[in-house]
Amino acid sequence: MTGILDSFGRSINYLRISVTDRCNLRCIYCMPPEGVPQMPHGEILSYEEIRIIVQAAAELGINKIRLTGGEPLVRADLPKLIKMLSRIGGIQELSLTTNGTLLKNYALELRQAGLSRINLSLDTLKPDRFRYITRLGRLKDVLEGISAAKKAGFDPIKINAVVMQGINDDEILDFARMTCEEGCHVRFIELMPFKGMAEFVPSVEVRQRISLLGKLEPCPSITGNGPARYYRLAGAKGTIGFISPLTELPFCSRCNRIRLTPDGRLRPCLLGEDEIDLKMPLRNNASTEELRRLILKAVASKPEHHHLEGGNARPVKRKMSQIGG
Ligand code: GTP
Ligand code: 5AD
Ligand code: SF4
Repeated sequence: MTGILDSFGRSINYLRISVTDRCNLRCIYCMPPEGVPQMPHGEILSYEEIRIIVQAAAELGINKIRLTGGEPLVRADLPKLIKMLSRIGGIQELSLTTNGTLLKNYALELRQAGLSRINLSLDTLKPDRFRYITRLGRLKDVLEGISAAKKAGFDPIKINAVVMQGINDDEILDFARMTCEEGCHVRFIELMPFKGMAEFVPSVEVRQRISLLGKLEPCPSITGNGPARYYRLAGAKGTIGFISPLTELPFCSRCNRIRLTPDGRLRPCLLGEDEIDLKMPLRNNASTEELRRLILKAVASKPEHHHLEGGNARPVKRKMSQIGG
């Protein structure tokens, strides 16, 4: 088995790297309309610093990397980082989570740089509503981004839809139909209460509504390293996934990941406040051995589970856009 064993017997082989806290959107569940204060450029890890950390992590058994943000494509020359990381021995998969708005300009270059997979956020198929949810974006840009990614050869492309009561839950069936008609892979995500803008919809309820279209058959075979559970409607090329951090118990027993923030801190858990600083040691010329020790420390301090069910244990020091989901 690859990966690093944590204190609860889970194997950690997946590192999510938030390459920037900047975003060109202001999604209502993620940021206030005015955005969040930006980290000074000097605080953000350089590509070379990220490469050194990934090298150390790979030596310990991390073999899956996902780049997130903010919006990763607003960072200058992201393909350059992808090229650098794809050359590191032991990294088997290098993927990206993006809001898709800039994807049409980058899809081919990303593919050529060595990117394996793309997941993309899309919470509505209605242009006006898209503008309401993201405050700044245009649906057309994302749809063109998806086409460009398909054309560049990315497969599967997964669509992440955060389901919000009274805001987009009337589109569940439209998203589900896309898995039949267009062979898309759609994942419905339970809204985590970072911002309190809307109510989440439990995955069981989403499933019940989809059952109007037919029976959902389990489909575990789709490529992925995250917490989604996958199903398929009869005859559909695409799949329907559910990410249920609030209602799947125990959600965290399958956790396989740690996170690196834009300013160089390892976060053992998305929903915990603990962080281990790598940037200061790196900038003080820490050896790879020292970095490996700090990575092991982060893995060893992973909690057994989050405390979202208590309702008050959400991280307060960082916004989702500064962690990367
Ligand atoms: P695949 O490799 O395709 O499975 O990617 P992924 O699902 O790991 O990546 P993506 O960035 O698309 O993640 C989808 C969403 O799942 C995230 O944005 C979060 O909302 C949620 N998620 C992922 N990991 C965790 C986690 O460790 N805890 C919680 N609570 N939610 C998570
Ligand atoms: N709850 C659930 N998912 C969220 N995302 C951002 N904020 C939240 C939240 N509060 C998701 C986005 C994107 C990924 C990076 O994180 O939809 O798919
Ligand atoms: Fe940007 Fe993603 Fe946050 Fe939306 S959810 S504002 S796309 S970081």
